Amino acid sequence: MTWELLLWLLALCALLLPVVQLVRFVRADGDLTLLWAEWQGRRPEWELTDMVVWVTGASSGIGEELAFQLSKLGVSLVLSARRVPELERVKRRCLENGNLKEKDILVLPLDLTDRSSHEVATKTVLQEFGKIDILVNNGGRSQRSLAQDANMDVFKELIELNYLGTVSLTKSVLPHMMERKQGKIVVINSLSGIASVPLSSGYCASKHALRGFFNSLQTELTEYPGITICNIYPGPVQSDIVKNALTEDIAKPLINSGDQHYKMAADRCVQLMLIAMANDLKDVWISDQPFLSVAYVWQYMPTWALWLTCKLGKKRIKNFKSGMDADLYFSKWKTKHE
Ligand SMILES: NC(=O)c1ccc[n+]([C@@H]2O[C@H](COP(=O)([O-])OP(=O)(O)OC[C@H]3O[C@@H](n4cnc5c(N)ncnc54)[C@H](OP(=O)(O)O)[C@@H]3O)[C@@H](O)[C@H]2O)c1
Repeated sequence: MTWELLLWLLALCALLLPVVQLVRFVRADGDLTLLWAEWQGRRPEWELTDMVVWVTGASSGIGEELAFQLSKLGVSLVLSARRVPELERVKRRCLENGNLKEKDILVLPLDLTDRSSHEVATKTVLQEFGKIDILVNNGGRSQRSLAQDANMDVFKELIELNYLGTVSLTKSVLPHMMERKQGKIVVINSLSGIASVPLSSGYCASKHALRGFFNSLQTELTEYPGITICNIYPGPVQSDIVKNALTEDIAKPLINSGDQHYKMAADRCVQLMLIAMANDLKDVWISDQPFLSVAYVWQYMPTWALWLTCKLGKKRIKNFKSGMDADLYFSKWKTKHE
């Protein structure tokens, strides 16, 4: 091969590389590090087997799916949330379809807002299994109300549950992980912890707060390289999150939780979460397009992102005010592009 031909080939590769990356990005449902780990990284079935995993918010949605997929890996599971019958249902599902026996699953009722119960809950897990390898901070609620209309109890509840409840449980488990010098803390944040959207001001605030806390905590754990923090930021995922969202009044349920089909399936989201956990990834974005692109714009061009979100958000607010599903236009867009 002549030098000239080699140079031509190198130039062609240099030209093709950005095109390949662009195609990968358009088709992506997660950040490129995560998708690389899915292709070339460690498999969850090699890394997570035999671990004790505590999942909060395990009674529905992402937490339920996480419990289900983990049960197939042969871990010991602690399932926490407030609704015991739902936790028992998830436990049965894990036993019927997974690789676990009755003794491998502990149903542990827990209210994240009841911070005084977190130490006792942690002791109960340690008595039952002797260790906690992974804490998945997943329990949480969203919001559908305008900041102006929502009363202060709504903001308080979102901070108590999504932020302080998560911080408190983590602080209960952390001394045990520090003693063992190992453990994984997984935080199910949200793209709303990076981007901000209308109708979710309190939710966005609680998720932004989580991002600040856990990134800061990571910098304090440099003496403990065996303890890793994995911040996961999902975009829209099929679950009960909208149905359970807080409105302008703490006691008022949401009337129209809308269509879910345009969102990412929970099983795909959880599959990627397990890859992130197996590979100790620190900052993980999981979302279909166009939400993934919007998150990148928020991260790197916040002024443009605000301009764009104000434009798109008008429609969201208009739908919401007229009693429709706020995100109706996304489901219409998805249907059109299927
Ligand atoms: N679905 C999405 O589009 C999406 C996107 C980004 C991030 N996320 C995040 O993913 C996590 C899981 O949400 P999901 O989508 O699976 O919604 P979901 O189906 O509504 O599940 C929420 C879970 O949180 C639990 N929970 C609520 N209040 C609680 C409390 N006070 N104490 C303990 N547990 C409580 C619920 O159980 P009980 O009611 O039985 O207590 C339930 O198991 C949340 O942190 C959410 O912010 C979701």
